[in-house]
Amino acid sequence: MNQQSNFPENFLWGGAVAANQCEGAYTEGKKGLTPVDVLPNVAGGRWEAMLNPTKALETKYDFYPSHESIDFYHHYQEDIALFAEMGFKTFRMSICWARIFPNGDDAAPNEEGLKFYDHVFDECQKHGIEPLVTINHFDTPIALMKNYGGWRNRKLIDFYVHYCEVIFKRYKGKVKYWLTFNEINMLLHVPFIGAGLILNKDEEKNANQLKYQSAHHQLVASSLATKMAREISPEFKIGCMLAAGITYPDTCNPDDVWKALNANREGYFFVDVQSRGYYPSYSRRLFEELKIKLEIQDGDLEVLKKYTVDFVSFSYYSSRVASANPQRTEGTEGNVFSTLKNPHLKASEWGWQIDPLGLRITMNELYDRYQKPLFIVENGLGAKDTVKEDGSIDDDYRIDYLREHIREMGEAIQDGVECWGYTTWGCIDLVSAGTGEMSKRYGFIYVDRDDNGKGTNKRSKKKSFGWYKKVIQSNGVDLA
Ligand code: BG6
Repeated sequence: MNQQSNFPENFLWGGAVAANQCEGAYTEGKKGLTPVDVLPNVAGGRWEAMLNPTKALETKYDFYPSHESIDFYHHYQEDIALFAEMGFKTFRMSICWARIFPNGDDAAPNEEGLKFYDHVFDECQKHGIEPLVTINHFDTPIALMKNYGGWRNRKLIDFYVHYCEVIFKRYKGKVKYWLTFNEINMLLHVPFIGAGLILNKDEEKNANQLKYQSAHHQLVASSLATKMAREISPEFKIGCMLAAGITYPDTCNPDDVWKALNANREGYFFVDVQSRGYYPSYSRRLFEELKIKLEIQDGDLEVLKKYTVDFVSFSYYSSRVASANPQRTEGTEGNVFSTLKNPHLKASEWGWQIDPLGLRITMNELYDRYQKPLFIVENGLGAKDTVKEDGSIDDDYRIDYLREHIREMGEAIQDGVECWGYTTWGCIDLVSAGTGEMSKRYGFIYVDRDDNGKGTNKRSKKKSFGWYKKVIQSNGVDLA
């Protein structure tokens, strides 16, 4: 192919997973419990359980999808070999905090947990794959919630920083790219998995105070981790991670535009701190209106200022719409945040609207605002797949989705946006975070397991497997 690539030569193509959605082996190797371990599947009321963790912790459900999941814990060699066959340059994964510190506050780390990730990173290295590691992907140890109240408690900063110190020292030389918190803005919507917050009825009334205080602790923890990373290895690159997706105004009515601006700021708030190094000026009024009084200790603001991230990573599935018109109520599903329906867009089987140009817009917005390299660490289509009699899976719908998004990502790069890489979400089928389903599949690799945990866990290649291999081989030129 003679056509010129829109992507830089060393562009990091790959795929992404998270420990809590793929490892399984939920008590093996002395691992402690994390939020997903107490969440049922959709039939058991997963969403309600996420929003009412007190009840979730007291209830004995029939089935917990994460307990076995796709058993990456025992299949990592086979899985990484398949990623290598596709030509992955990078593999985004997360370390489960509770494998390293089962209670979160243990004095010494758990060697079995550390060894497991040694093996995973060695396997990546063997195949020339650069790991991109999320330090906390929705899995603050349950013990830290029960004993300390989760991230509302400042002590969590010390436990997190200790955990970072251990993994930074242990995996120096094996891992270069780190993300401090997955989708940090998610804690405003699902505080249980985002910040280990279990709120009682009284606290519910005061939820904003607790959420933003927890956010402050995570932001300080993220900066302290960055500080430590700089001390441990000059090779390390530290990124923040935002659940992104531009919010459009429903119309050109200034009221709608104002509403959309504020919806976007809700997420930017976090990256403003992590990337620019200070609380944005609009937060003063926001805190006043929400009656929030942040407890900020001496030195916090200096740390935030001094240790900002090297790059801005984000997930993108869809754009959103905001309207000031109370009559405009027709909504649709989305990645946790509810949004109004955009009449110009089609949607996935789960109602997530499909907007490839929205990715280009989001990238341009983020780059204009922060002027730091971007990394798209999640993007993809959750869809039902059908296995044909001969075992093949023709997932053209997934190829179409990814093709259009990759095309727009290339356009954004040509617009002048610096982007280091792209990892599709759920490169191998895994348990859905939102619904706990297996049937909401994102992978290039099919895993024989259903919503009730039945199946052989056998891996097989979908049509998109060969397609993505060509995309990587041609550095994004061959998207046919
Ligand atoms: C992101 C999360 O919010 O979206 C992932 O970082 C999650 O953990 C992904 O799996 C897709 O969401 P879902 O609900 O389809 O699994």
